[in-house]
Amino acid sequence: MTADTPIAQIRPEGATGTAPVAAVGNSGKQTARLILLGVLCAAGWLASVLVGHSVECGPELHRIGLAVHILALVLSFGTILVVDWLGLLWLLGRVHMHESGKLEAAAKPLIWGGLALLLASGALIDPDLTNPVTAVKLGAVLILMLNGLSIAPAMHQLLALPPETRFGELGRKLRLRLMIALSVSQACWWTAVLIGLINSTLRRWSGM
Ligand code: HEM
Repeated sequence: MTADTPIAQIRPEGATGTAPVAAVGNSGKQTARLILLGVLCAAGWLASVLVGHSVECGPELHRIGLAVHILALVLSFGTILVVDWLGLLWLLGRVHMHESGKLEAAAKPLIWGGLALLLASGALIDPDLTNPVTAVKLGAVLILMLNGLSIAPAMHQLLALPPETRFGELGRKLRLRLMIALSVSQACWWTAVLIGLINSTLRRWSGM
């Protein structure tokens, strides 16, 4: 990083982040909010798994649940693909940071709304918790939600920077944080989608 880059003026390379000093005062509140949201996500996930495990839904409800599951998947995963793709393009220096950051902010209701529907509908379609592959899928679902929450402070820092800021100009820790978040997001989403599809296909083949 050169001395005349915007980020270097805010905080030197190797510092823990790039937030302007004024923003640091809010970090306690932000952390408390994030922890609360994390607890809510974990509670929603647990409720979905427990209800799915213990409540036997009839074939009609199963059919409706599966239809909602697929629609919610399109909504949530489709949006995630666009957001993560634009994030990757920014990482590669192809688009301005704010295009990626603003899209991420605008897309939040679609992603989280879709996830809430995935949790609710998943509970109606009899998840088989004795199947280790299903357990891996559900673990991936929890991780992708917590990962999505944990990246919020870094996104706030990014949006506070000048639009022309390039990925290479960020501090090393922030760069690493963003790359890890993007990789975890993609790995968990694809794991959940592929296991869901495989499980569903096997169920149909075995006529269950
Ligand atoms: C990010 C969240 C999730 C994703 C991306 C996801 C993805 C999928 C996909 C792609 C399918 C195949 C649909 C088909 O074509 O038939 C599926 C099926 C299924 N999902 Fe999910 N899912 C998610 C969350 C959940 C949750 C939280 C549960 C349960 C608590 C769940 C339980 C199931 C079950 C049981 C099936 C099989 C349904 C059947 O064939 O009867 N899913 N999921």
